[in-house]
Order: sequence, then structure tokens, then C-alpha cells
Amino acid sequence: MINRYTVIGQPIAHSVSPAIHHLFGELTQRRLHYTRTEATTETFETIVKDWQSSGGKGCNVTAPFKELAAQVCDRLHVSAKLAGAVNTIEMHRDGSLVGHNTDGTGLLRDIEKNKGFNLAQKRILMVGAGGAARGTIASLLSSKPATLHIANRTVKRAEELTNLFEHLGPTVSSSYQDLSEHGPFDLIINATSMAFDDQAPPLPQTVLHPDSVAYDLAYSANSTPFLDWCKNSGIGKTTDGFGMLVEQAADAYLIWEGVRPKTRKVFLATSDIINSVAIEQRAAANNGTAS
Ligand code: ATR
Repeated sequence: MINRYTVIGQPIAHSVSPAIHHLFGELTQRRLHYTRTEATTETFETIVKDWQSSGGKGCNVTAPFKELAAQVCDRLHVSAKLAGAVNTIEMHRDGSLVGHNTDGTGLLRDIEKNKGFNLAQKRILMVGAGGAARGTIASLLSSKPATLHIANRTVKRAEELTNLFEHLGPTVSSSYQDLSEHGPFDLIINATSMAFDDQAPPLPQTVLHPDSVAYDLAYSANSTPFLDWCKNSGIGKTTDGFGMLVEQAADAYLIWEGVRPKTRKVFLATSDIINSVAIEQRAAANNGTAS
């Protein structure tokens, strides 16, 4: 029997999750099929339930549906409960949907284990306050940073997050403009969806110091507008979200398949994975089927 999974988002054609999960299948000698599914806010719930009733074993959820996914699930694992955001749904035979969030553990593992950057006593700036930010804050606070500052265009959403997580550690919220009174930061994480529009968040230079580390939750074959801005501002340590993507995927795979693949082998194939998706997208565009 082949276990079937999908990743649901909008847009979704760029997603490298199918390539990562198929590689996990090879590494762990499991038969699985993993696809991409595009949704809208209106169709999301029906798509999830249809996937389950057609025999799907689970799905990943990406922007902008992580918060909606938490509402659609029957039960939430502790990783998703406080955040109110789900990136992994486990589909049970009794028809129930259990929501998990592996973004936080994936990000932390990439920053601390893969990149060797210890967050204890560091000043962290989280840029953005949507579903992607929500899923990672509890994990970041578990590393005991000196502060976690959340800045967002809509300040109210940043304030909601500081209220939600302040019992786990020191949290502050502000607009982008007011950041000039709070910098600099040791780690700056871009959790906005602005890379989709080829834009960088409007941050003041004062958030950076020469040894700041810049992390974009988005990933790209080349760079991202946020990472370009950091590099042009003299920041040497920049990384995109590919490492987090692989680690959160490995945690999702563990939930579904009961085994955690060795991610090192996936990192060795990084450029092949990203290039194969770029080729796939170009072919779809030439056939007029790109979404
Ligand atoms: P995701 O699941 O990727 O987090 P989301 O919940 O829609 O998706 O959140 C998108 C994030 O990107 C939010 O922080 C959003 O800011 P607002 O809360 O003010 O909407 C941010 N974002 C998206 N487009 C933006 C833009 N043009 N300028 C500034 N922030 C933007």
C-alpha cells in the first residue's frame, strides 16, 4: 500500500516538499506518494476532508492556511494548541484530524544544530506575525533568549502574539517604524510572506549589528529580497529557510510514518531538489498549466 500525502497552500507550484518527502521515502524504504494541492480560504476545509475520505494519510499546510487549519482539526497537539497554527495534519482511520506544528522544532533544530548558533541570552527579532511566526515562537522562547521582539505591519497582530506567549519568556511587540528605538538584534527572522511579492520588509538599519545573523523562513534557489537587503547592509551570516523546511518535514514524516529520516542526506541533495522543482515549473509554464 502506498501512503498518500499532500501539501496545501496558495501559491503552491513552487513547493519542494514533494521532492523532500519522496527522498525521505527512499531513505527509510517506505512507499509513499506526495503531491501539491492549491486551495482558497473557501475551499481549504473541503479539500482537507476530501483528501482524508479518499484515503490520504495526512497533509502539510503552508501559507496562508496555517491558522485556518487549526480551526479545521478535531484535536490539536500541544505544539499547535497555543500557537493556533497547524502545518501538519494527521488523518486517523476514525475520521478525525489531529493538528501538529513542526515549524518551531524544525527552525530550532536548523538554527542550533545545523548552523551551530546558540540562542540562549540572544536578542531575537521576529519580523511578521502571521501563521509562520506563530508556529515558531514557543520553540524560540524555549532556548531562553534575552528577548524576542515581534514587529509587524499590523501591530495588533504582533501584540496578540506577545500576549499569547509572554508567559514563556520575554516578549516585546512594535511596528516596523518603532524598531529604531529597540535595535540591534543578534538574530533577525523574516516570517512575513513578502518574498512572494519579491519584497523585503521595511526595517531600519539600526536592527543590524555586524555580527547579526539573518534567517529568512522563505527559501529560494538564489537569495531572497530580505537576505539581499541584509547582505547589502554588510551582514555576512545569512541563511534561507531550506534547512528549516527539511527539518520540519522530517518531524512531520516522523508523525506520519513513525521514523525520522536522516536529514543530512537531503542537504547533500539540496541543489538537485531546488533545481528539479524549477525545471518542473518551467515545463508547466511552457505547457500553460502553471498556477
Ligand atoms: P503565513 O502563514 O506565511 O505567516 P499570513 O498568516 O498571511 O501567512 O501572514 C503573512 C505575514 O506577512 C504577516 O505578518 C503580514 O503582515 P500583516 O499581519 O500586517 O498583514 C506580512 N505581510 C504580508 N505582506 C506584507 C506587506 N506587503 N507588507 C508588510 N507585511 C506584509
